[in-house]
Amino acid sequence: MKRTTYAGLVNEEFIGQEVVLKGWVQKRRDLGGLIFIDLRDVKGIVQLVFSEEYGEEALKVADELRGEYVIEAKGKVVARSEKEVNDNMKTGKIEVDITEAKILATAKTPPFYIQDNINVSDDLRLKYRYLDLRRPEMQKAILLRNRIIQSVHSFFDSQEFIDIETPTLTKSTPEGARDYLVPSRVYPGSFYALPQSPQQFKQLLMGAGFDKYYQIARCYRDEDLRGDRQPEFTQIDMEMSFADQEEIEDVTEGLIAKVMKDALGVEVKLPFERMSWDESMSRFGTDQPDVRFGMELKDLSDIMKDVDFKVFKSAVENGGQVKAIAVPGGADLYSRKDLDQYGQYVERFGAKGLAWLKVTDDGFSGPIAKFFKDDDVREKMLAATDAKTGDLLLFAADNSRVVASTLGYLRVAIAKEQNMIDESKFAFLWIINWPLFEYDVDLKRYVAAHHPFTMPNEEDVHYLTNSDEDPHKAYAQSYDIILNGLELGGGSIRIHTRELQEKMFEALGFTKDSAESQFGYFLNALDYGFPPHGGLAIGLDRFARLLADRENIRDVIAFPKNSKAVEPLTSAPQPVANKQLDDLGIFVADKDEEK
Ligand code: AMO
Ligand code: AMP
Repeated sequence: MKRTTYAGLVNEEFIGQEVVLKGWVQKRRDLGGLIFIDLRDVKGIVQLVFSEEYGEEALKVADELRGEYVIEAKGKVVARSEKEVNDNMKTGKIEVDITEAKILATAKTPPFYIQDNINVSDDLRLKYRYLDLRRPEMQKAILLRNRIIQSVHSFFDSQEFIDIETPTLTKSTPEGARDYLVPSRVYPGSFYALPQSPQQFKQLLMGAGFDKYYQIARCYRDEDLRGDRQPEFTQIDMEMSFADQEEIEDVTEGLIAKVMKDALGVEVKLPFERMSWDESMSRFGTDQPDVRFGMELKDLSDIMKDVDFKVFKSAVENGGQVKAIAVPGGADLYSRKDLDQYGQYVERFGAKGLAWLKVTDDGFSGPIAKFFKDDDVREKMLAATDAKTGDLLLFAADNSRVVASTLGYLRVAIAKEQNMIDESKFAFLWIINWPLFEYDVDLKRYVAAHHPFTMPNEEDVHYLTNSDEDPHKAYAQSYDIILNGLELGGGSIRIHTRELQEKMFEALGFTKDSAESQFGYFLNALDYGFPPHGGLAIGLDRFARLLADRENIRDVIAFPKNSKAVEPLTSAPQPVANKQLDDLGIFVADKDEEK
């Protein structure tokens, strides 16, 4: 029997026709001599009817069917009687009276129901991922991802970008996340690294004269995992020669607009808003602001200089800040106990406490209200924060980094808690004009804010080239694209001369020799006439997750790793045979002996 159409596509137009369908048994209802089967395939579900009247042998087959059996069935499409029409089903106006049927595969009872909103552990879902993926919501997410991918290819092709593959067995380079390493059998003791991104190769392709490159590229980073991070993930990666920042942003906007249209049918308004990194940090306390709601951070440092509350006054005197957010109606929403809990939580950002005031008709209430009795000060505070009676003011007093992360976190946590976010919105935004470097508190040194190939702002180049200036003051020609408070992608204009690239490595703490041994091939390439160039990469998994409206990027990846970097279906990673290790010249120290 050859399939004539899909179960999910049979509708009123097929009435009177004979169809052959193939798929899985979703549900079986036995009314004695009359059996209903919901047949599921990639396009949806249709109801099959088995009875002696339509097919005696077929009814016998139907008798044996159980959930997830794979069958083929031939029958006639008929209209359902008025009272049996199911408006919740795309195929709810018809059913198929089956004349012939055959079991193609039997199935055990699955460990969970093949339906949406199941309540089982993530690991069980991942162990039986092929069953999990049969569920309609997962099919929908993976199909949406496919729509995005097809849209990306068609966009770049129309703009004459060239799809070029770059290696996945490549060289380990410092200055990024931790690498995944692959041992070489031919050179025992030597390792390839899996790429964290195609960054250097795409730049080399610009040097090679290809002008516009793109690739949907697999990237690998051995980082601590979170909801929006996977050890292997996919980038929509691109690079352009002779283009400035604006041209790259324009192309990116065109790409995003097309994807939004093709994948969701949503028209986005271009151009997206651009905001400097400094402004974003100051107003939102983060470089990936969610601009779908207010509660912005307000600076009260000036006012607090004159207030006799030691916590605030000394923060300002020590060169720090006092900032606040005003939670609308927050006075009744948060008890002292809730606020104590938040106070403890924000300690992880370095905050030493969480001061708060509730705005009442005749002043402030709360444990520190006694310090704010002065009418003039109160007026100024209310004006600066836009707070009204019934609002709650939350304060952070510390250096700018701690203040930003504390209030930036509270702003989002409270907005989520109070349903202040319009989830139907897609808020795209560029964050531009980043610092070239950032201080890494753990490493206790400066690292590249984006990556070491990023071009400083033209007017800031002197910070790197004049040896008596501080290179870490430079700002960069880099840009991130943010969607709904999440970094979707980022890029920069690149350094294209050896001289400046060497200065950049120097500012990152490389000696001439260490830069040469790590990046010599790249510096050499720059000796041979590189065009000015720049590019960007969008995280495909994050983009797909946001468009699919899912909580975790795992839900838009067919076979993801769990939060412990394990792939529960195959149980990777696993120990390998000693013979394999011997071939690679690898000796694995016994974990227990080591201790
Ligand atoms: P960057 O490191 O900012 O830039 O990465 C670009 C985008 O990739 C996504 N992303 C991730 N997604 C899932 N899991 C991860 N572990 C993960 N890490 C990053 C993010 C991020 O915005 N080569 C540069 C780009 C360039 O300069 O052109 C780069 O890799 O969405
Ligand atoms: P204290 O005077 O230490 O009892 O603090 C008074 C209030 O200020 C308490 O609610 C503390 O949680 C809060 N607080 C203390 N230090 C800070 C700080 N650096 N920033 C914001 N609030 C603080």
